[in-house]
Amino acid sequence: MSARTLLLVVSMLALLVAGCGVDEAIGDHPCPPGGTTLSYDNFGKAFMDRYCQSCHAQAGGGGGHLTSSASYGVPAGYGFGSADDVRAHRERIFARSAASNTSMPPGPDDPPQGERDKLADWLACGAP
Ligand code: HEC
Repeated sequence: MSARTLLLVVSMLALLVAGCGVDEAIGDHPCPPGGTTLSYDNFGKAFMDRYCQSCHAQAGGGGGHLTSSASYGVPAGYGFGSADDVRAHRERIFARSAASNTSMPPGPDDPPQGERDKLADWLACGAP
């Protein structure tokens, strides 16, 4: 393989890796200096209900009661039906759905970027 081809292959690989990215973690996103006006009641509950609970509601927590076979493959214990459930899974919810993370929800009803940014602030401030 010529040096030029090698360079091409290497740069394509680099692009591929950059494109896949690494999850942005909750620790990379500080709570805004003035805090947040977002709360479970005025934001979090509606967000989780609209974008997550269609699958996660049956996965336990928050009164989930069905068996895991009814939970679309969501791991047991990952129900987001209460403020406490969300706080308990804050880091993973961030890593899957907040800011630049878009691996959840897996379906077509994706939250707009503005909503993912709000989710990031709200979680980073402790999901008050
Ligand atoms: C269409 C169904 C569906 C929707 C809607 C959905 N999920 Fe999931 N979720 C899954 C499935 C299936 C898994 C297990 C496979 C996986 O981890 O990708 C999962 C796993 C998870 C996990 C546990 C695994 C981990 O990475 O720690 C978290 C956290 C999560 N989802 C967060 C969310 C959030 C937050 C939302 C809403 C923004 C959401 N999900 C919406 C189906 C869904």
